[in-house]
Amino acid sequence: MYDYLIVGSGLFGSVFAYEANKRGKKCLVIDKRNHVGGNIYTKNIAGINVHEYGAHIFHTSNKKVWDYIQQFAEFNRYTNSPIAVYKDEIYNMPFNMNTFSRLWNIKTPNEAKEIIEKQKKESGITEPKNLEEQAISMVGKDIYEKLVKGYTGKQWGKPCTELPSFIIRRLPVRFTYDNNYFNDLYQGIPIGGYTQIIEKMLEDIDVRLNYDFFEHREELEKCAKKIVFTGMIDQYFNYCYGELEYRSLRFETEVLDEDNYQGNAVVNYTEYEIPYTRIIEHKHFEYGTQPKTVVTKEYPAKWHKGDEPYYPMNDDKNNSLYARYKELAAQEDRVIFGGRLGMYKYFDMHNVIEEALKCVEKEFDN
Ligand code: FDA
Repeated sequence: MYDYLIVGSGLFGSVFAYEANKRGKKCLVIDKRNHVGGNIYTKNIAGINVHEYGAHIFHTSNKKVWDYIQQFAEFNRYTNSPIAVYKDEIYNMPFNMNTFSRLWNIKTPNEAKEIIEKQKKESGITEPKNLEEQAISMVGKDIYEKLVKGYTGKQWGKPCTELPSFIIRRLPVRFTYDNNYFNDLYQGIPIGGYTQIIEKMLEDIDVRLNYDFFEHREELEKCAKKIVFTGMIDQYFNYCYGELEYRSLRFETEVLDEDNYQGNAVVNYTEYEIPYTRIIEHKHFEYGTQPKTVVTKEYPAKWHKGDEPYYPMNDDKNNSLYARYKELAAQEDRVIFGGRLGMYKYFDMHNVIEEALKCVEKEFDN
């Protein structure tokens, strides 16, 4: 008999399993995929660590989380500084002085602020009724037209005029020549990829792959005293209140017979007419010098039941549905729901570690 059955070998399940095992608890980790790691899984192709489920850049301002993750891998100094391509123009992201000087041929923060203020005023928007109006009232027309409109429309599968304004309450604008996408204190990529981190966490723990909880539910529920469930919470309850919605993605990966395809790890394509949102060139996450390169095009996709659920749609409708499932979850005293699917929330990796450590503390240290 195991102390814990952990459903899902992603970051949440693996941190929990590692900590429980350290405290002498016997754990079984299962995953329906054929590998551990969930969405942070990296696979070595042509000597390059490929982020199989989209670009993963670790960033946090939480020293405890940063120190925690360093136990499992050495991190490099990678700084996310994406490039945006609009037609034949190249811009730096996030919107900063490099973007503004390229757009308007200006040099100083005051010049940039003046132009943005002028465009906001000219728009005459006081109460934004949709995402387009919201964005223009925050950053003006030029940035909206070239860098927000097509990209956001593709991401959500609808024109910005049909999207609610709350989706972009904030657009990062920085009046310095700093291309670092994140404001966090700590940032990097594990040298050698993310999979090693999970493998180290699960080193002394029983793991079963290609093993779906719902196909073996009866047997699995009997094999452990408690369950940590990091799959879809609505599926756990047999969709009794209806289905939660997600946004999905499709990845197209190619090995190219050249050493440097685009000169940057992340290049966003902001025109609506180009169907993918970005191209990732994986070797640049680790300053790779291999003779070949691996690139992945990321296409946003509508989610249907059975597809990979990448992003929870945290709008009012889905959040209130989740609240009902959460009430059911509170009544399951033998089951802990965790991670982005179990808690129906978009979490970055550092958030997941924080949540998992909170859960560990509640379970063992009280
Ligand atoms: P995760 O989904 O990783 O793990 C859940 C596991 O449970 C999966 O392995 C799944 O197969 C398994 N499972 C589900 N149902 C099951 C069942 N019925 N039976 C058995 N197993 C089951 N974060 C960040 O900090 N920086 C970044 O740059 C990015 N980038 C990024 C890009 C993209 C495209 C996405 C979608 C996400 C990111 N993230 C990110 C977020 C990051 O991926 C996320 O924080 C963690 O991977 C979440 O870990 P979890 O363990 O919660 O879920």
